[in-house]
Amino acid sequence: MDNNTLLSQTTSSESMMPYSRVPAGFVSYRPVLVEDIDIISEIESNSYPEDEKASLETLRYRCINAGEMFLVATEHGGSENEIIGYICGTCVNENETLTAETMGSKHEPDGAILCVHSVCVKSNKRRRGVGGKLLETYLMYLKARNNDRKRDNQSELKSVRLLCKKHMIPFYQNGGFTLLGESEVTHGKDAWFDCEFTLLD
Ligand SMILES: CC(C)(COP(=O)(O)OP(=O)(O)OC[C@H]1O[C@@H](n2cnc3c(N)ncnc32)[C@H](O)[C@@H]1OP(=O)(O)O)[C@@H](O)C(=O)NCCC(=O)NCCS
Repeated sequence: MDNNTLLSQTTSSESMMPYSRVPAGFVSYRPVLVEDIDIISEIESNSYPEDEKASLETLRYRCINAGEMFLVATEHGGSENEIIGYICGTCVNENETLTAETMGSKHEPDGAILCVHSVCVKSNKRRRGVGGKLLETYLMYLKARNNDRKRDNQSELKSVRLLCKKHMIPFYQNGGFTLLGESEVTHGKDAWFDCEFTLLD
């Protein structure tokens, strides 16, 4: 390809489109800290219906007991790093099915299945690609963690599971999840769908 072709391709409005997906600020990712929980609880409360949101106590439990599975996205703005999103989950043993309890607050540190409970982006930061990138970063981290655990002869995570409502299925499929089908979990008026990301075959 000559330079002119390359130039015309990289400056066409079509090829510039992906850049509109890049968040305005600089987003970075880090493990959760206990002192984040009040802010995270506020974002959770503003993002989920009353009967679906995790309480402050549950979020604190997840942070303290399953902190390794709790990733926070921050955006650098002004002099501070603002928390703009997070993903958290807890692990269960392989033979457990996803029930209200396994999607709840208990955590088996060596469990083979990671149940994701919240994937959340602050409302004024949505639809800029932050959620998709957060999910991608989380899965990359889990793969790297598996490699470390394998090296240290520790059990690895086999899969990541989550329940979502119908309209969110494409979001997770785009992130590499497979739709397993409608879940037996009944909660509220909407059906729940079981999605899986396989880490180990
Ligand atoms: C779900 C959530 C994390 C998505 O975060 P986000 O930063 O807006 O996601 P992205 O910008 O990366 O979205 C990428 C694509 O996913 C899809 N998508 C995102 N949010 C969606 C929604 N609420 N409904 C349907 N599709 C959605 C769209 O196709 C979107 O692309 P588009 O903006 O070009 O249309 C965010 O809306 C949120 O925190 N919601 C409240 C909590 C929640 O419901 N979490 C999911 C639990 S299953």
